[in-house]
Amino acid sequence: MSNCDLLIRNCRVVSASGITERDVAIDRGRILALTSDSSSMSPTAKIDAKGMALLPGLIDSHVHFRDPGMVYKEDFLSGSRGAAAGGTTTVFDMPTTVPIVTSAELFREKVSIVGRRSLVDFGLYGAAGVRNVGEIGKMAREGAIAFKTYTVAPPGDRTKEYEGAFVTEAGQLLQVMEAVAGSGLPHCIHAEDDSVVGYLSGRLKSEGRMDPLAHHDSRPNAAEAVSVYQSIAFSRATGARVHVVHVSTKEAVDVIRAAKAEGLPVTCETCPHYLVFTKQALEKMGSRAKYNPPARSEDDVEALWRGIADGTIDIVVSDHAPHTEEEKRMDIWGAPPGTPGVETRLPVFLAAAERRGLGVQGTVRLMSTKVAEIFGVDGRKGDIRPGMDADVALVDLKARWKVRKEDLQTAAKGTSIFDGMEAVGRVELTLLRGVVIYESGGAFAGPGTGEFIPGPKAVRSSSSP
Ligand code: NCD
Ligand code: ZN
Ligand code: ZN
Repeated sequence: MSNCDLLIRNCRVVSASGITERDVAIDRGRILALTSDSSSMSPTAKIDAKGMALLPGLIDSHVHFRDPGMVYKEDFLSGSRGAAAGGTTTVFDMPTTVPIVTSAELFREKVSIVGRRSLVDFGLYGAAGVRNVGEIGKMAREGAIAFKTYTVAPPGDRTKEYEGAFVTEAGQLLQVMEAVAGSGLPHCIHAEDDSVVGYLSGRLKSEGRMDPLAHHDSRPNAAEAVSVYQSIAFSRATGARVHVVHVSTKEAVDVIRAAKAEGLPVTCETCPHYLVFTKQALEKMGSRAKYNPPARSEDDVEALWRGIADGTIDIVVSDHAPHTEEEKRMDIWGAPPGTPGVETRLPVFLAAAERRGLGVQGTVRLMSTKVAEIFGVDGRKGDIRPGMDADVALVDLKARWKVRKEDLQTAAKGTSIFDGMEAVGRVELTLLRGVVIYESGGAFAGPGTGEFIPGPKAVRSSSSP
């Protein structure tokens, strides 16, 4: 093993198994070896990484890159540039594009459209609703990474994005979960109870509430609690592997902790914005800080951190949900919910985690290793060890800086709620399967460097693009 394409020397490797000083050899897109003596190697290229940490490429299993259909908000090129600049080498894109991904045919089309633009490897979700239960198995075989269902009707005029992905009636949700259970893939649930949100929104609007907290009050903790409990009960009934997305409340953490103790196949995620902001952010920033579920109380934030500490919360993702500045300037009822965060996930989280005594290795588990395990791509992603894809981020963990929205890659940079926030760790270099896709200072690989990553139930012959 003396020849290799690239040798990254003198780095602190943060792998799933620990932190070690190593030289990392990369060959033909894979990790070849980790060694403390590389003197016998003759690499084609070398990088001296003294003082830097080498992290497994991060995986963001919850992004909305708006492509195809709403590329005026974002497309897979700008979205994936943000990912690369943030040390993320694999994203899983939600099905709520236009057209929404409800069939094997639409799935195939989306693979080819976004594959031309993506800088990072990508997996795609299928939407799961009552009208397309017959397509669920087909999408799994086509390579869907998981399925997504909303338990709440879409906001305002966004039915086109959500038609076929929301199920607001319990019996219908049970039916959809039976079908997803049959696929063996995770069932990602956006858990907010539709009737609770419907009743309260109606009441608050009729009372004339227009202040930003009206958004918070229309989607209280109870709306999430009821829906999370329902999906867990149905997981018990169907065997569906429920993954609760963007958990925001103490109630949800408690119910999920109990479900796990019972041995149910339940996992969950939260996002940096739920860990660093309370509902005061809504008061300060108005519609810009409107997202679903909304920012909560101090108590909820503390409960989320406890959930991270004891493993109830499995992963931290961005829920990168870009909208235009004009859209985010609308009033609190009219503005679309969602906030961009794919690029700021690591540094914002590291800064907050440091104050909680959580280190970089725990962060790598939350943002890469465990994500790969949940979604079944851990045979090639989520760790730095021989045989794995050479997806790595070289990070200066000593760097302390402040997020500046102007520097972000997302088309929605002007709306970033993280602007001005303290950040720890600067991504200096990002490699995807051994190829440099981002170098600090702003050099990016070209569109299409990323590949489609089929889910674990893909029938390989038909899914390779
Ligand atoms: C998301 C979006 O805009 O696509 N918005 C949000 O507030 N989270 C949708 C979603 O993840 O629910
Ligand atoms: Zn959601
Ligand atoms: Zn989302």
